[in-house]
Amino acid sequence: MSHTTKASGQRQLWHQVTLFDGARTHDTPMTVVMNEGRIERLLPSEQVPTQWLEDGSIAGQGGVITPGLIDCHTHLVFGGNRANEFEQRLEGVSYADIAAQGGGILSTVNATRAATEDELFASAKPRLEALIADGVTTVEIKSGYGLSLGHERKMLRVARRLGSELPVDIVTTFLGAHALPPEYKGRADDYITEVCEHMLPAIAAEQLADAVDVFCENIAFTTAQCERVFQAAQKLGLSVKGHVEQLSNQHGSELCARYQALSVDHIEWLDDTGIEAIKDSGTVATLLPGAFYTLRDTKVPPIEQLRKAGIPMAIATDANPGSSPIFQLTLMLNMACTLFRLTPTEALQGVTSNAARALGIHYTHGTLAEGRTATFCHWQVEHPAELAYSIQPNRLRQRVYKGQITHNSQGGSGHLFEM
Ligand code: NIG
Ligand code: FE
Repeated sequence: MSHTTKASGQRQLWHQVTLFDGARTHDTPMTVVMNEGRIERLLPSEQVPTQWLEDGSIAGQGGVITPGLIDCHTHLVFGGNRANEFEQRLEGVSYADIAAQGGGILSTVNATRAATEDELFASAKPRLEALIADGVTTVEIKSGYGLSLGHERKMLRVARRLGSELPVDIVTTFLGAHALPPEYKGRADDYITEVCEHMLPAIAAEQLADAVDVFCENIAFTTAQCERVFQAAQKLGLSVKGHVEQLSNQHGSELCARYQALSVDHIEWLDDTGIEAIKDSGTVATLLPGAFYTLRDTKVPPIEQLRKAGIPMAIATDANPGSSPIFQLTLMLNMACTLFRLTPTEALQGVTSNAARALGIHYTHGTLAEGRTATFCHWQVEHPAELAYSIQPNRLRQRVYKGQITHNSQGGSGHLFEM
């Protein structure tokens, strides 16, 4: 077979689709051309050479194409579950009270420490598969339920293994400063020393973490303690990010901005000073409407101010057993619009281009452009806004991951339209 024949033989077309490329929805029908695992061309359908339609195979027609979705904030690897605390909260006990009584994050720490690597892998796999079936092609996974070198390392290894066994890119984050482990009760500064001087260097040496996160909150660590973690990360050349301004305003966002953090996450209590600080730092504002919803929060993040300041907004599931037991990223599109009043376009940018930016991978991920690796989703909807508008599973028609079609369905029952 000559090289030319081989190349054209491999050409696959998604013809007459509505294209959301990560930034905007194109207003004319487009054709996505894939060749040798890359996006060879993105062009208006009327300009497609007839030859290509005759030679190449039409892999899909009509519907919507988006970049593969990116869930840029999850705690997907954990032991046990917290359905009992869900019941407690329904009886009126608050998330903070449960944490103060040794439940909350610490109950998941106990369950995670008790689990083997294989058990953690087996429990995380179906959660990851649920995200994959919903069009997700990149997932960030944090540690933070181990809280000792051995157990944090175990969590991060499981995260890496998930990425090597399933068709999805995994980005790992070390969240040693998530909660104070029971053995350090009353000695938070000593634990932070352990994180900075022992855990973080060992994790970095094994290349188990792509970034470092902290929980800066009155039920977690102070801004000064978080800064020590950032300094240690910086010394090792690792990027940082923070769970900040979730339950109160500790000015964690200002700290994050000083360390050019990739993202500030939650940010319900972010104020004007915080916005001013992150405006020019390149830091992404990551919104987690699932945690807001689950905790029945009433303090909405300052969306209009973020918008005015031109700060990129990302959206993620925050998938975890406590504050957001949610494993469906398209549901977050709906919640970001309904609860936070984002536009559908902003919400879609939040799980594509801006989510990639929040992980520092925007040069390769989150946007569809000629020459890039072909990783995208073909949806059984007529317009991208529908993905945010209705809460409806099984709309993923095809999922293309690194040039391979890893999911191909007729969309199950309840088609919105026939192709
Ligand atoms: O992102 N805010 C801190 N950490 C998690 C909650 C983890 C848990 O409750 O287990 C979050 O909401
Ligand atoms: Fe989180």
